[in-house]
Amino acid sequence: MIRVHYDSIDSTNTQARQLSAEHPGEWILVSSGTQTAGRGRFGRQWQSDTGGAWFTLVVPHQPDPEVQAILPLLAGLSVRQVLAEQLTLAGKQKPEIQIKWPNDVLLDGKKVAGILCERIKTGKQSAVLVGIGINIVNRFFNMDPAQFILPPVSVLEATGAKLQVGMVIQAVTEQLRLLIESGADACPRAEMMNEIEYCLAWRGHTVEIVRGSEKLTGTLMGLNPSGGLLLESGDQLHCIEAGELGLPVPLDHESAKTQAELQVRLQQIS
Ligand code: BTN
Repeated sequence: MIRVHYDSIDSTNTQARQLSAEHPGEWILVSSGTQTAGRGRFGRQWQSDTGGAWFTLVVPHQPDPEVQAILPLLAGLSVRQVLAEQLTLAGKQKPEIQIKWPNDVLLDGKKVAGILCERIKTGKQSAVLVGIGINIVNRFFNMDPAQFILPPVSVLEATGAKLQVGMVIQAVTEQLRLLIESGADACPRAEMMNEIEYCLAWRGHTVEIVRGSEKLTGTLMGLNPSGGLLLESGDQLHCIEAGELGLPVPLDHESAKTQAELQVRLQQIS
């Protein structure tokens, strides 16, 4: 794997795009201490001060379309697994770490990490830039909460743990590569999807999903095997391939359907 680290750069995704043109077919890791033009989904700005893990993994062409479809979720899963492991090693009580479909990781309900996947052409083949931003020891005080859809948080703020940024980047990269490579087999892939569904944020809640100019409200039922979101709305089961979830209303656990209720309902309507 080619690895490049900068003290500061515009965006690791932008830099990774350039490097992948020079090295088609290679796994490449680009990281930076800060980003001056960090990008989020939907053209949003991504605040990238010192103390966060800002990196992009160039995943070379994956022949298996099933793996391609779930890359953002695998990235979220690798972040979750690494944070859980490193927090345990740091002697911290296990906080709740959830994956918010399709691209975020939540720590105790707040956004600790975001993922920006971009498909690119390298030579005759395609590759995917998996850009990952994890708030590790950076802080968000003095921030206007209205700026964010979900309140941001760093690992330090949520748990008091001072994880090492370089170690987190290394471990997430290794874990993500392992998940991608073993995901080519149907059986481990199904196990990964089960794990993602188990830690899926807002399952059983009433949520609103925005797809372009369209909005759909319904119960978040789970995921299909290709990573699409299953939403029950108007007695119909919809499978949503892309979009953005708004905060559930209400957010309390009592008003959410239980796993058992969801299972029964899925059998009735699918
Ligand atoms: C989002 O939540 O909207 C996705 C945020 C992704 C941020 C990461 S930081 C490393 C990489 N470089 C970027 O410019 N963006 C991604």
